Amino acid sequence: MKKVYVGMSADLLHHGHLNIIGEAKKLGYVIVGLLTDEAIASYKRLPLIPYTQRKSIVENIKGVSEVVPQETLDYVPNLRKIKPDYVVHGDDWRRGVQKETRKRVLDTLKEWGGKLVEPKYTEGVSSTQLINALEEKGTTPNKRLKTLRRLLAVKPIVRILEAHNGITGLIVEKTKVTDGEQVKEFEGIWLSSLALSTSMGKPDTEAVDFSLRFRTIEEIFEVTTKPMIVDGDTGGSIEHFRFRVRTLERLGVSAVIIEDKVGAKRNSLFGTDVTQKQDTIEHFCEKIREGKKSLVTEDFMIIARIESLILKKGIEDALERAKAYIDAGADGIMIHSKEKDGGEIKQFCQQYNGLENRVSLVVVPSTFSHFTEDEFKNLGVNIVIYGNHLIRCAYPSMVKTAQSILERGRCKEASEQYCMPVNEILTLIPEDY
Ligand code: SPV
Ligand code: MG
Repeated sequence: MKKVYVGMSADLLHHGHLNIIGEAKKLGYVIVGLLTDEAIASYKRLPLIPYTQRKSIVENIKGVSEVVPQETLDYVPNLRKIKPDYVVHGDDWRRGVQKETRKRVLDTLKEWGGKLVEPKYTEGVSSTQLINALEEKGTTPNKRLKTLRRLLAVKPIVRILEAHNGITGLIVEKTKVTDGEQVKEFEGIWLSSLALSTSMGKPDTEAVDFSLRFRTIEEIFEVTTKPMIVDGDTGGSIEHFRFRVRTLERLGVSAVIIEDKVGAKRNSLFGTDVTQKQDTIEHFCEKIREGKKSLVTEDFMIIARIESLILKKGIEDALERAKAYIDAGADGIMIHSKEKDGGEIKQFCQQYNGLENRVSLVVVPSTFSHFTEDEFKNLGVNIVIYGNHLIRCAYPSMVKTAQSILERGRCKEASEQYCMPVNEILTLIPEDY
């Protein structure tokens, strides 16, 4: 019997998929190469349905003989292994971003005389359309909460951007760029204490209390579906921290990052220019343990932030703390630094990777901003947080606009130079959102 290979994601099945499988069946023994979550996440958002569930659905479709994982977007590794007589794919991929993938399939099939069969694409229905429609419907706290762990399981590095209100949340949610077949976007939202305090006209000293932060979280959650990591500052007293994590978990936040400092909090990027006191290892471990104990789910993450490099205590101190915090139950470690060259961050990452029970590693490159995501990936970093960029870019342009109105005695120049057109702002947020 001839071997027939069909590659698919099958995240949301529709009659177009059934049509392809039906056509494949006419040619022989149908092997579906089902894209793994990693393969899908390498070029677009996480699938709605995890691999194991998609597999059991596809296995039960009439006409499918076997389901194997396709671990890359590229068909070639599976084709070389299976050497099918036919590959079946809708003819839509002759145009657009999949052209290259198609060409590689054709070239590979030639190696053993295999054939590409392309039934006419089923018009009027596509998984992307169905998925977009579902995403517009929104999410639930439970589903949102779990997404960060799902991302960490399949993405070599998770990319997070700061938001401090509804509109910046929408920017993190919706901004996309395409790079060949890949659609790049941010995977989640950072609720920064610096950006939020600044947007509220307050210093970053824990002056914005948690009930205000909870309100902002709700405001952002109203209009987004992506997971959120919250900057918990020092976490407050152990007694209060236990309540705080429960509230965050209930709201659907995925993780909180707390820093190992005590007393009046000052932003880390002041370094040793201001008085900042580091917590003892014992007390901070107790905070982590108590926080973990008070959680309801296994999904919520408590990430411990190490301030040793900020406070010039050295790499050894940072590593000793990393080990202790992991033993206390931390689900992730954030290492912070204010050195521009990033040398100490590199050194920390390299030594951290040698730890036996290493957990996810987080960086916030506010000062060491020249590192690319690929460089961080190679250093073993799992989450990169762009910590304050939306507030930092908005402020100068707001000030310029205010100054221009004062200088010119009218708003024409400011409107034309620094502002979006009125008709665009009117329709920026659709009424049926
Ligand atoms: C924040 O964004 O508030 C942070 C990161 O804590 S940093 O400002 O770089 O310390
Ligand atoms: Mg902060």
